[in-house]
Amino acid sequence: MATKKVTKIGVLTSGGDAPGMNAAIRAVVRTGLYHGLEMYGVVRGYNGMIDDDIMPMDSRSVANIIQRGGTILKTARSTEFFEPEGRKKAYDNLKKRGINGLVVIGGDGSFKGAQKFSNEFDIPCIGLPGTIDKDIAGTDFTIGFDTAVNTAVEAIDKIRDTADAHDRLFVVEVMGRDAGYIALHSGIATGAENILIPETKTDIDAMIAALSEKEKRKKLVNILVVAEGEKFGGANEIGAVVKERLPNADVRVCILGHIQRGGSPSCLDRLIASRMGYSAVECLLNGTHNVMVGILNNKMHYTPLDNAIKAKQKISNEWLNIVKILAS
Ligand code: F6P
Repeated sequence: MATKKVTKIGVLTSGGDAPGMNAAIRAVVRTGLYHGLEMYGVVRGYNGMIDDDIMPMDSRSVANIIQRGGTILKTARSTEFFEPEGRKKAYDNLKKRGINGLVVIGGDGSFKGAQKFSNEFDIPCIGLPGTIDKDIAGTDFTIGFDTAVNTAVEAIDKIRDTADAHDRLFVVEVMGRDAGYIALHSGIATGAENILIPETKTDIDAMIAALSEKEKRKKLVNILVVAEGEKFGGANEIGAVVKERLPNADVRVCILGHIQRGGSPSCLDRLIASRMGYSAVECLLNGTHNVMVGILNNKMHYTPLDNAIKAKQKISNEWLNIVKILAS
């Protein structure tokens, strides 16, 4: 069956927001307009498709947003879209406007929705990886990760100043529900003494033994960076164990939380968002449909949505070795 020409594109952001989403929206809208297409913004992710909250977008509508965090289209995690009736409503609303291509900026949950939708209906979808967690395979970068890590690094550097002044041990929790990338990158970059992530099993006994040995040689300033999804528990649980088993340690816990999701996107996030947004429209026009656009080895890389939702990015042994050797 011949692929229908894409003439009207809808763009939405879905799932947790990530700095750089606005830069991606801008790139999608302006590339589409450059090609003479009609562009539409869908508000609050898939919910906007279901509720018919869809607006035309011109070049000015995306002016002065490349530097702004959050997403001008707002975002949501839609449960209704995961029901067939929700997707049918969404399809009917796109269809009545003649929208015949969709760009979804979000994480793997959002791609699951896009994959189902594009398998059921004749509207091709392109996914752009927008998540601070960087837990998506088929791309070296996800939009928002670099900014989030830099936010975490800045915060941990500050925590080290006060930890140093008081000879304290800090347990710092960074985001990452199922993924340890923010913890790994920010922990290495701040010289954290321990990095605890969901992808590896934390050996609490070994960690306590190492900290106790450090205590004996008067190395009292320690930063433990813990990913939110670490299997033993978050920073509060880890902090409680350390307090209990090392009663002389002066332990404090700090949960960085949502500050990691906000803020002006870094230069890298603006650049990858612009490249991916541009590429998404090119894909819809040249028939590379139902893929996630990524960047691998500085080249655009296209992963079928069916595969993008299955594969998780793996943490390499090299990174884990770096943690072990440098943090000793
Ligand atoms: O997926 C991005 C993320 O920030 C995770 O790291 C975190 O676990 C989750 O979103 C938090 O989601 P919410 O803002 O809905 O609490």
